[in-house]
Amino acid sequence: MQHSLKLHGKASGKESIIEVLEQDLQKTMLEFLTEKSFPIASSCRGEGACQRCMINDDQLSCFITVEQFLKQYGQDVFVDYL
Ligand code: FES
Repeated sequence: MQHSLKLHGKASGKESIIEVLEQDLQKTMLEFLTEKSFPIASSCRGEGACQRCMINDDQLSCFITVEQFLKQYGQDVFVDYL
């Protein structure tokens, strides 16, 4: 099944469609978005300590896989500072 995410940069008003492949589903959202060159803030490298990697208001992107995100939130990813 084909998946994609729609990233909304709240600061810039820009939207980007990002294709999700089967092998991306078990990555964290932080890993996945960083790999796709979206500069998600992080200073603890995914340990859940810095709280800077927030998406969709209150979700740590280092604590949710792409698959879980799609189930829980659907397609739309909101990032305040992008
Ligand atoms: S990267 Fe630090 S809390 Fe997610």
